[in-house]
Amino acid sequence: MRKKIVAGNWKMNKTFTEADDLLFEIKEIISENPINGVELVVCPPAPFLELATDVAEEVDIHVGAQNVSSFSKGAYTGEISAEMLESIEVEYCIVGHSERRKFFGETNADVAKKVEQLLEFSITPIVCCGENLEEREAGNHFDVVRNHIEEGLFHLNEIEIQQVVIAYEPVWAIGTGKNATSEQAQEMHSYIRKLLLEKYGNEVAESISILYGGSCNAKNAFQLFANIDVDGGLIGGASLKAAEFIEIANSF
Ligand code: PGA
Repeated sequence: MRKKIVAGNWKMNKTFTEADDLLFEIKEIISENPINGVELVVCPPAPFLELATDVAEEVDIHVGAQNVSSFSKGAYTGEISAEMLESIEVEYCIVGHSERRKFFGETNADVAKKVEQLLEFSITPIVCCGENLEEREAGNHFDVVRNHIEEGLFHLNEIEIQQVVIAYEPVWAIGTGKNATSEQAQEMHSYIRKLLLEKYGNEVAESISILYGGSCNAKNAFQLFANIDVDGGLIGGASLKAAEFIEIANSF
């Protein structure tokens, strides 16, 4: 059985005190009502990762970073390596988010290198793929996603690919309040699983968690997660409030 995962991508939000408060609220809620059968992941900004890994020692949450360097170490001012993340017990890392592709020029080739760095330190990459509105309207969404997956991930072998989580995030749904419909999500998730099947075989394809992201919230999570190929969510805005984030994680 593949893992169900709900991951909160805080993006560039929260000060130290606010991050501390949000983590405290999450801790309070889940110590009273533990979440069953779902891996809860928080991805705060890098300066607050250790705050989160401290909380992860007390309650059942997992910590993810939002980015990692494609280099391993040395003279790369401003970069954070996979080894550094591993040294503070970070277990996940988002890679290839559309905001990084758009604002920081991250390419599929960068994604491929970052994934390799993370796997070397046993950190689970959450690799994002997804089309923008223009691409969907032109009917190119499957090609765009295939390209993200093939170029970002298909250099991995059968063992390595099973350590990866994929997040389908249609760009037109991110932060817009306009989520993909349940049918659109399932259609793309099953397409991604088919690509995995063709490359790695059924057993491997069935073992990989595919998350949906893009305006997923406590109101629509239940419907989205009800799909056979939707194994959870990558949550932006709605992960900034503890109660709603936990409600989403309880939406299976
Ligand atoms: P959103 O962001 O939930 O605010 O749409 C999702 C994401 O970008 O990961």
